[in-house]
Amino acid sequence: MSQEIQNQDSPVQSEVKSDRQGRIIWITGLSGSGKTTLSTLLDARLREGTDRVYTLDGDLIRQGLNSDLGFSDEDRKENIRRIGEVARLFVDADFIVIVAFISPFKADRDKVRQATEPGRFLEVYLDCPLKVCEQRDPKGLYKKARLKKIEKFTGISSPYEPPGSPEVTLRTHERTAEECVQEIIDCIKKHS
Ligand code: ADX
Repeated sequence: MSQEIQNQDSPVQSEVKSDRQGRIIWITGLSGSGKTTLSTLLDARLREGTDRVYTLDGDLIRQGLNSDLGFSDEDRKENIRRIGEVARLFVDADFIVIVAFISPFKADRDKVRQATEPGRFLEVYLDCPLKVCEQRDPKGLYKKARLKKIEKFTGISSPYEPPGSPEVTLRTHERTAEECVQEIIDCIKKHS
């Protein structure tokens, strides 16, 4: 019986699969580089065309799923590993999943790329100078990091490794948020 059902379903499944939209839009950059702003706008724009969109944001995930993790190199690595796994589940469910984490280590991001079907991992690098992020300092964390009230703060006392060949590089301090979002959408279309 179950065999019969499987056989009946397989042509339908393969038809649906050929049209899959599932993608990981991996936004990486320093704190204050614009990850949350751009992911919120991008989420809204994509929802105009599909309701299969979901955003995983560092600040929110760290309050729940990853509340046991801190900011040591090992914990950041585990943070990204878990998020990569969750993001790939969303791709399997044919969602466009927007991931907005500092994700400072190149090797950790590359591992997620390698584990994802080719063409379904699109890396967006927010190339905003530390000086600008520090001036913005929306949460007052850079100030605390300079005063050594926060340890291992990315860009100050912990490294950030830029991507080697991201699909999109956005100098967020030189462009409007709308222009940046449009560039990400153009990239998704190009890889569809
Ligand atoms: S990541 O490095 O592991 O990818 P993630 O994106 O999840 O970081 O979380 C970053 C957010 O945590 C920052 O936007 C900031 O609000 C907060 N945060 C608290 N402590 C630190 C720290 N030491 N370094 C960076 N971000 C920190």
